[in-house]
Amino acid sequence: MKAKIIGTGSYLPKKILSNLDLEKMVDTTDEWITTRTGMKERRIASDQEHTSTMGFEAAQKALEMAKIHPSAIDLILFATITPDYTFPSSACLVQKMLGAVNAAALDLQAACTGYLYAISVAKAYIESGLYQNILVIASEKLSAIVNYEDRSTSILFGDGAASCIVSCHHKGMAIDHVNLGADGEQANLLMMPAGGSRRPASKETVEEKLHYLMMDGKEVFKHAVRRMEQACLLSLEKAGLTEKDVHYLIPHQANMRIIEALAKRFGLPMERVYVTIHKYGNTSASSLGIALDEFARENRIEKGQHLVLTAFGAGLTWGACVLTQE
Ligand code: ACO
Repeated sequence: MKAKIIGTGSYLPKKILSNLDLEKMVDTTDEWITTRTGMKERRIASDQEHTSTMGFEAAQKALEMAKIHPSAIDLILFATITPDYTFPSSACLVQKMLGAVNAAALDLQAACTGYLYAISVAKAYIESGLYQNILVIASEKLSAIVNYEDRSTSILFGDGAASCIVSCHHKGMAIDHVNLGADGEQANLLMMPAGGSRRPASKETVEEKLHYLMMDGKEVFKHAVRRMEQACLLSLEKAGLTEKDVHYLIPHQANMRIIEALAKRFGLPMERVYVTIHKYGNTSASSLGIALDEFARENRIEKGQHLVLTAFGAGLTWGACVLTQE
């Protein structure tokens, strides 16, 4: 029994935050942001758009493409670092919105690698025979935890959602191999220091601005290319393939320089590397899924061709997966 992706969807809020807008908010320039990150715009959720509602919109599109009724979903896996609430899970909120009455529901947290972690869990459940149709959602409202007075992080992140249906039925993109990694030694490189049980919200935590995302970008950068390259090579090897078999690469959209370095290491021309970073910035767990959905809807991939997905994020976490078009 092989797990495959049989439908994808995504959702982006309408509101655009451009580099020129950011120039008016912090001490930065369009030129700095473009050359250092490749980003031009990102999307920002309105007060009525939440992590769960954006995830719901993306899920509806994936269900529509897969031609699956919500009642046929066995499990909802929701990857996010910005859930509506600590509990109940955003997965349960979407289960209600969809009327997916037969589905179990859980949130999963692996930061920017969340979409890949969720695909891996879905593959394991499907191939064990326990479930037949799993709805994967990744959705982030990062604007809720970004400090718009900090030029080193505010320029990087945006909001948005992605979804896919992993199933043992129909034809799709077979999930040949997924490998995941983590290094908790580096947990302090990228975190939100307060708001959890270790440092609950208080007057002091708010005054010290500890409810915002904090990142040592330079250090994170150093790990990103190496970890994603290793993960891709391992996935290819386990799938019985080499770098030469990669038709397309879809990497996490964190920095254009990271993406270009990765493409170079695989000898891939940039037209075979899928990029959305200029339009949406880094949407954490959603980035990979949004790119996969836009790629899938362009019908670029042919039967038998291989696609490699890879991501990297807080934790630190990383992973890669090989998909083959059936
Ligand atoms: N505008 C202008 N100048 C800036 C800005 C800005 N927005 N931000 C920083 N600078 C300045 C710095 O202050 C510094 O100035 P100094 O030399 O006078 O001290 C200079 O620019 C260089 O700063 P660096 O931090 O060294 O810049 P760098 O080239 O490393 O780029 C960046 C920073 C874009 C954050 C990069 O390090 C990066 O992309 N890191 C990886 C991030 C990542 O991959 N995250 C993935 C996970 S995200 C998740 O899991 C939620």
